[in-house]
Amino acid sequence: MFPLIKEILAMKTGSRIPPDSGELRVRGWVRTKREMKNLVFVEVNDGSCLSNLQCTFDGIPVPAGLSTGASVEISGRLVLSPAQGQAVELAAEAVTVVGRAEDSPAGKAEPGNPVKAYPLQKKRHSLEFLREIPHLRGRTNTIGAVMRVRSALAFAVHSFFRKQGFQYLHTPIITGNDAEGAGAMFRVTAQDPPAVSGPAGAKPGGGFFGRESYLTVSGQLEAETYAAALSRVYTFGPTFRAEHSNTARHLAEFWMIEPEAAFFTLSDNIALAEAFLKNLFSAVLEECGEDLRFFDERIEKGIIDTLKSIIDSRFTRMTYTQAVAELEKSRQPFEYKPYWGCDMQSEHEKYLTEKIAGGPVVVTDYPKEIKAFYMKQNDDGKTVRAMDVLVPRLGEIIGGSERENRLDVLQNRMTELGMNAETYDWYLDLRRYGSVPHSGFGMGFERLVQYITGMANIRDVIPYPRAAGQLY
Ligand code: 4AD
Ligand code: MG
Repeated sequence: MFPLIKEILAMKTGSRIPPDSGELRVRGWVRTKREMKNLVFVEVNDGSCLSNLQCTFDGIPVPAGLSTGASVEISGRLVLSPAQGQAVELAAEAVTVVGRAEDSPAGKAEPGNPVKAYPLQKKRHSLEFLREIPHLRGRTNTIGAVMRVRSALAFAVHSFFRKQGFQYLHTPIITGNDAEGAGAMFRVTAQDPPAVSGPAGAKPGGGFFGRESYLTVSGQLEAETYAAALSRVYTFGPTFRAEHSNTARHLAEFWMIEPEAAFFTLSDNIALAEAFLKNLFSAVLEECGEDLRFFDERIEKGIIDTLKSIIDSRFTRMTYTQAVAELEKSRQPFEYKPYWGCDMQSEHEKYLTEKIAGGPVVVTDYPKEIKAFYMKQNDDGKTVRAMDVLVPRLGEIIGGSERENRLDVLQNRMTELGMNAETYDWYLDLRRYGSVPHSGFGMGFERLVQYITGMANIRDVIPYPRAAGQLY
């Protein structure tokens, strides 16, 4: 295999590499071209790392079509760079333009084949503009770095759980139940649109599966069934929410990681979440140094030190009741006035993490009215064993709980909430046959990537963002 630029930049210099098979060949896309009198500099990037490989054309003709965005194959010798900015460069000996990129809209347009100039000509583009060209934005420094960090993190998620004895479980994407009871689900249907909305021929609850079906909002309930079989499982898959929250932290399609563990109490669950986040931060610091330095310089100053200091600290813990007391006594002019029983707003979460704790906070024991039906009830009759992990800038990154494992308590709660017990009979079976205390949590993968990179908008940390009103 020919080397990637990341590997070339790590090679020793001065000789033809590999030494006995002759020339070194690089393949990638042209980022920039600078022409001097007899010298042409071409920066090539192949996405294997942030850095470009500078290729110098000294007396070698540069072919027509070698412009920003074109794909090229260049061979030559790797030499120490006499100039600042890079340690090594490629002294080009031969070059082929593999695929041209139109650099001006002047060419000959044909029907169905308009001539459009390559949109990434300039060095800097706004992230909003880049969202409109998701098929090309991966070729920018920022989005390229985000996707490399994302890839490294996904791998680190699997290796963390594997080391802790968790089995990777694939939970269904099409489901018949609303795990969160929030009702913000996408309906799945194989019927033509009129039959879905209109009365003609539409069978309520009919359709392909013979009952209502949806895209999953969480794999938790199914994960619970396997935690009651394999002890420790986790899911990592796509999740869908039809909430109309047009914010910088919500997507309609996102990836969620959900561990679920038998015999885990709430405090085991919190310890797992804390170890998990720290482990991911360490992994990315170790593996994505160059990309993180880029985020630290350009996107979120100090992010590297922040991540390092979190690894060395203990997350602050407080109950919901304590958190509300902190909010009530603060002089902060909140838009939503905090009171016991309120659903915490992101301004409240920001205050707790940024002003009170100066780092991540784990809030526990929320009022049962604002949490899902499956959470274990405390003896006070008012609160449940919930835990949310909040981080500065973003607010909630993890939500979880100990689960209600007492059949009668769970049934009563479902009745109170007017839930259809038949749909959940299989879930109740877990409480009928060998019920165990168990706990788990969910982490939005994009929120994690957002936190680590400092990217302000969640739409810029997933390759193809899907959000209310926008299917890019
Ligand atoms: O707090 P949530 O709704 O919890 C659950 O779904 C539980 N079933 C998890 C569990 O206990 N197994 O969602 C979990 C996390 C949130 O903390 C947040 O990070 C992320 O999922 N999340 C979203 N991320 C992006 N866009 C959205 N619309 C999100 N909704 C939740
Ligand atoms: Mg939540």
